[in-house]
Amino acid sequence: MKTIKTANTFHPVIDLIKNRWSPRSFFQEEIEQNDLDTILEAASWAPSANNEQPWQYIYAHRGTAGYETLKSCLVATNAVWAKDAGVLIAAVARKTFAATEKENRTAMHDVGMANANLVLQALTLNIYAHLMGGFDSKKLTADLGLTADQEPVCMIALGFLDVAEKLEEPLRTRETQVRQRKALEEISTHLS
Ligand SMILES: Cc1cc2nc3c(=O)[nH]c(=O)nc-3n(C[C@H](O)[C@H](O)[C@H](O)COP(=O)(O)O)c2cc1C
Repeated sequence: MKTIKTANTFHPVIDLIKNRWSPRSFFQEEIEQNDLDTILEAASWAPSANNEQPWQYIYAHRGTAGYETLKSCLVATNAVWAKDAGVLIAAVARKTFAATEKENRTAMHDVGMANANLVLQALTLNIYAHLMGGFDSKKLTADLGLTADQEPVCMIALGFLDVAEKLEEPLRTRETQVRQRKALEEISTHLS
C-alpha cells in the first residue's frame, strides 16, 4: 500500500503542507512537460530580494542523457532510490545581483522559497518531491558548466508515489516512519 504521511498538527495548518512529505519510493511514470512547467512556474512566483529571482532549475526527464548526468552527481545513498524519479532537478543560485554584481546575501534563502513553492505545487498534481543535499557539488558544477557566480543549492527528485515495500532496509522502514517536528516553543520566541 502507498504510504500516507500526513502531519499530525496541533493547529489548523493547510492540507497541502500537512500532506507534503519526502518519499524515496517512486513509481516509474513519466512526468508530463506541461505539469513540470506548471511546477516550475509556481517556483518562479516566489518572493525574492529585489525581485532578483536568483534561481535556476536545470532538469532532465528519466531516460535521457541529462538525467544520467544529474543522477551521477548524487551520493550513492540517494541515487539508489532517486533513480526511479520521473525528473531530477539541480536547483542553482546566482550569488550576485545582475544589475550591480554585488553579493546577494539572500540568494540561497530565495532559492529555498522558490523550492517550497515548487514542492507544494507539485503535490497538487500528485507529484512528490524529495530535496537532496547529498550530491557532489564540484562534479555538478563541472558537469553542468556552472559559472563561478552560480552555486548549487540542492537537487530535487520529482515523481509519483510507489509502495514502501519495494525499498531495501533501512529505507523501507524510514519510508513509513511517522514524521516528527520540534515543538513551537523550541522554534519560536514570543517577546512581550
Ligand atoms: C536542503 C535539503 C537537503 C536534504 N537532503 C537529503 C538527502 O541528501 N537525502 C535524503 O534522503 N533526504 C534529504 N532531505 C530530506 C529531509 O531528510 C526531509 O525533508 C526531512 O527528514 C523531513 O521529512 P519530510 O520532508 O518527509 O517531512 C533534504 C531536505 C532538504 C530540505
